[in-house]
Amino acid sequence: QRGQKQVNGKLPPHVPSPIPWFGNAVAYGIQPVKFLEKCREQYGDMFTFTMIGRKMTFALGPEGNHFLFNVKLAHATAEGAYDKLTVPVFGEGVVYDVENSIFMEQKKFVKDALTTTAFRTYIPIIRKEAQDFFKSWADQSDKFELFPEMAELTIRTASHCLMGKEIREQLHQQANVAQLYHHLDQGFQPINVFIRNLPLPNYWNRDKANKTMTELFLRILKNRRASGTENQHDVLESLMNSTYRDGSRMTDTDVAHMMIATLMAGQHTSSTTVSWILFELANNPHVIPELIKEQSEVLTGKPDTPISDLPDFDYDQLRKMPLLECVMKETLRLHPPIHTVMRLVVKDLEYKGYTIPAGHFICGSQAVSQMDPTRYPEPEKFDPWRHMGSEEGSGEWTINGVDIAQKSAKSHFLPFGAGRHRCIGEAFAYIQIKTIIATFLREFEHDLLKNDKGENIFPPMDFTSLIVMPQKPSYISYRRRK
Ligand code: HEM
Repeated sequence: QRGQKQVNGKLPPHVPSPIPWFGNAVAYGIQPVKFLEKCREQYGDMFTFTMIGRKMTFALGPEGNHFLFNVKLAHATAEGAYDKLTVPVFGEGVVYDVENSIFMEQKKFVKDALTTTAFRTYIPIIRKEAQDFFKSWADQSDKFELFPEMAELTIRTASHCLMGKEIREQLHQQANVAQLYHHLDQGFQPINVFIRNLPLPNYWNRDKANKTMTELFLRILKNRRASGTENQHDVLESLMNSTYRDGSRMTDTDVAHMMIATLMAGQHTSSTTVSWILFELANNPHVIPELIKEQSEVLTGKPDTPISDLPDFDYDQLRKMPLLECVMKETLRLHPPIHTVMRLVVKDLEYKGYTIPAGHFICGSQAVSQMDPTRYPEPEKFDPWRHMGSEEGSGEWTINGVDIAQKSAKSHFLPFGAGRHRCIGEAFAYIQIKTIIATFLREFEHDLLKNDKGENIFPPMDFTSLIVMPQKPSYISYRRRK
């Protein structure tokens, strides 16, 4: 890292900490939003603090988001910020282990599989997976820890739709894939942003799981080629058949690693969102009848058709349920799974009269801008109707990271990011999560547990994992609808 004296220009204000080197790691790590809001009150939209020997410079607010998401590659990179974390989990040759221009093409190969035609086929698959899964809850009523259940359901739905039927079958036949997934996940901790390897069993398990998962995908790939069953319209097929602009193809190992990356990128982001939606609905039960009424109106033209008489919905009907969409948006506003986005500065950057030196991490936080009371009055309140008719946060992803993505980056609401690193899974996440929620609400009534005073126990957000999850224990109770 460069010493501060070498920098030409004014550095952003520095947040002090009594602990050298370790710095503000604890305050930021436990309550990042509160910590950043407090720093903002004192120092404004831009400031730097030390964390585990690194200088973290935050640019907050919609302008900060715009600056960060559209920063030039020559100045700051995502791979510099995320490679220690991701390369051992995903494997080499993909994502942050390759030049950005190559990764952008790899992203496009995945995105090419996420078409409306594919989505139309996914809705019945997701619905059936959810119905079968809910049937496995044998009792008429029960209480359980919600997040692990939703993690299990989303791994089934996402693997069935995106990874291909072979992986889904493996999940059925043996717990092996779930176990491999768990081991990869263990290597995906915040500390790994800064440290690639520690001499702990987690890391050996992570590396072994990457190897085994890679071999599994390689076998599937080989079998597909040998049996000629290549027309599966899933991500694996898109990756197998795509060519880079220079005419070359991904190696089979790169394809396998890109499959692991896609699986990891979509899993906890989606399962935590499903969980938060159900917690928010249980805490705001007045919204549930409105959601059921919306389904009834769209599917039967009447607001009060008994739930048992509602037909199945398809892709077009799901798109005609704006309240369901707004419930998901409002949940992502309050509980964005990724609360901070980072880049490593590789060449000094100028912003608002300050110089951010090479070696700093430049960071933005949608979690902060999404709680801004000047944009969202009563920001703590769950109010899905505030998103009705709003285009905010929706935008197209483009391979060059310019045009539409740039326009949408100057926003308070960016749960899927913006610019060249924008999420490619947004549309899939919406259909997957909306289908699960719509199916759940037809089957169950659900509540939060109560404390001694009769108040709802709403789980706090756990910021200590990479993806913001409900803090354990986080129960709901359910009753099957008659
Ligand atoms: C990127 C959020 C689901 C694949 C991102 C980013 C965010 C995000 C904030 C930008 C990260 C950055 O700029 O550093 C979410 C949320 C999801 C979700 C909230 C669900 C609710 C998915 C799914 C997939 C996926 C289902 C795969 C099908 C990706 C990929 C990137 C990405 C490949 C690109 C990373 C890059 O270019 O550096 N996501 N995501 N995501 N996401 Fe998602």
